Amino acid sequence: MQPLSLFSTAESTQGIATEYSESASATIYFGDRLDLLRQIPNNAARLIVTSPPYNIGKEYERRTELDTYLRGQEETLKEAVRVLARNGSLCWQVGNHVDGGEVYPLDILIYPICKRLGLMLRNRIVWHFEHGLNASRRFSGRYETILWFTKTDDYVFNLDPVRVPQKYPGKKYFKGPKTGEFSSNPLGKNPGDLWVIPNVKHNHVEKTPHPCQFPVELIERLVLSMTNAGDLVIDPYMGVGSALCAAALHGRRSAGSDVVWEYLTLAQDRVAQALTGTLRTRPMDRPVYEPDARTKVAQRPTIFDSNE
Ligand SMILES: C[S@@+](CC[C@H](N)C(=O)[O-])C[C@H]1O[C@@H](n2cnc3c(N)ncnc32)[C@H](O)[C@@H]1O
Repeated sequence: MQPLSLFSTAESTQGIATEYSESASATIYFGDRLDLLRQIPNNAARLIVTSPPYNIGKEYERRTELDTYLRGQEETLKEAVRVLARNGSLCWQVGNHVDGGEVYPLDILIYPICKRLGLMLRNRIVWHFEHGLNASRRFSGRYETILWFTKTDDYVFNLDPVRVPQKYPGKKYFKGPKTGEFSSNPLGKNPGDLWVIPNVKHNHVEKTPHPCQFPVELIERLVLSMTNAGDLVIDPYMGVGSALCAAALHGRRSAGSDVVWEYLTLAQDRVAQALTGTLRTRPMDRPVYEPDARTKVAQRPTIFDSNE
């Protein structure tokens, strides 16, 4: 394991390597995703979860022809499939590529690549959030998707740790042999494939300078359901390391890469905090904030009515 002398804080070095090491709590690699993945043995990872660049000209990417972009995605996916365990999962979280006002849903374009690589789709999870750019010539985008693939039919899936509260926990059977017994699972219900989780905007506790980081709770749900303690979780386009943080919070090992040094240093600090239990995150069980209708900002100003 290499020392982390390159990084910003000295105390952040515990168990964090700069090149892949099986014994590291986390590997934070500065460089291209293929250079990290090529260091990792076949079948090593139980979960590969990422949000790649969308080829829309964000500050961390160079916009290219869509075909060139998809060829790059295929290269990443090929290596990812090689390092994925037989009973592992691959989650590709994407939104839209937009060109000249036309929308290209990346999950639709990436699905055939994954099928060619032999993966099987288990869910197309819709991640709904309430804040983002306001469009004027189409409806504002308020969801992205996670394509969850497995390599085989024999895959790790732990539902109990990610169950959510039942709507009617006190409901009982009213007929049949179980009459009078509670009808719902006391551990909660399956969260379904539509996940309402706030995205990381300016007032979010996890906000960093990264323009589009994962909320940690989004990845915690994947980590808890698709891996076991000690398993390896990889994010080849890790940004500020949110997926690695989710892994660290739940005793999983992790590895990630990014080509932007500023993100890497932030990832290193955040992962170190996650490993020592000091990282502040939005808790998985906190309901989405609903503004109090009595507050002034939640009320329609009368001036709007007088201008009508
Ligand atoms: C959508 S962001 C991911 C953000 C991440 N999920 C987080 O929570 O911070 C995509 C990231 O891919 C990184 N990236 C772009 N090209 C890369 C490459 N060739 N190898 C590794 N990372 C790359 C960008 O710097 C950016 O941080």
